[in-house]
Amino acid sequence: MSLKIIRSPEELKTTLRQLKRLSPEKTIGFVPTMGALHEGHKTLLESARAENDICILSIFVNPTQFNDKEDLKKYPKTWDADLALADHVGVDIAFAPEYSEMYPDNYRYQLNEKEFSQQLCGKDRPGHFDGVLSVVMKLFNLIQPTKAYFGEKDFQQLCLIEGMIQAFFMDVQIVRVPTLRESSGLAMSSRNVRLTPEEKTLAPQLHKSMLLAKSSEEAQKQLQQLGFHVDYVVDIEGRRYAAAKLGNVRLIDNVKI
Ligand code: PAJ
Repeated sequence: MSLKIIRSPEELKTTLRQLKRLSPEKTIGFVPTMGALHEGHKTLLESARAENDICILSIFVNPTQFNDKEDLKKYPKTWDADLALADHVGVDIAFAPEYSEMYPDNYRYQLNEKEFSQQLCGKDRPGHFDGVLSVVMKLFNLIQPTKAYFGEKDFQQLCLIEGMIQAFFMDVQIVRVPTLRESSGLAMSSRNVRLTPEEKTLAPQLHKSMLLAKSSEEAQKQLQQLGFHVDYVVDIEGRRYAAAKLGNVRLIDNVKI
């Protein structure tokens, strides 16, 4: 099957219905993304490709998870390169809907989580995880994947999605994919392209301090001294989470401790 681009939820449903009628036993591997694909996304797609009969990618810059309008506006878009990468990996369907089609209710209906989503990134980005959970629920309902792939890079997001699956008895297996890093240790991210050359040299210190500091407080102090604007460094259940800004680029990372 060559790469098929689908724009509307209706067309996606019809296509999947046909596929299922022809071969009901086929498994579907799904990778949700916001595009601007890099090597990190590629590892998710490769796993989904290898482990399933049908491989689906979604590309949708989801406005409801951006609390900062500027961040949404500046979010990188690399449509042609994304499709080339998808095609290269052997993705069967790229689903890229418009806002009005994904949100016919204009976000009147939302999914809320009331504890973990309020901490860490949720503190600095109110409503962020409700937007993530809402869109992922919509995508899962449309695609009904056997397995869905999420990166440990966004560990809080991953945990919240696993929690949603349990809470709503959803029939999707979540696969955790380890964080892909540059040789410097910097976690790959679509936002990294917005770093200036000087910021790019400094950015790997985030991971280094998180790994080497004896406590989260020590890591925070080191990062502040280096010129990061630290949103948080927090240890929770054997994992150290951090978010910090360099200029106007917000970096997040997490490591096992
Ligand atoms: P996005 O930031 O495009 O990321 C899509 C997926 O790629 C997420 O599961 C993310 O954790 C994973 N990913 C990103 N960088 C990675 C890296 N360096 N190593 C491994 N995995 C990496 O996360 C989102 O989009 C959105 O919130 C989404 C789930 C699509 C909902 O809109």
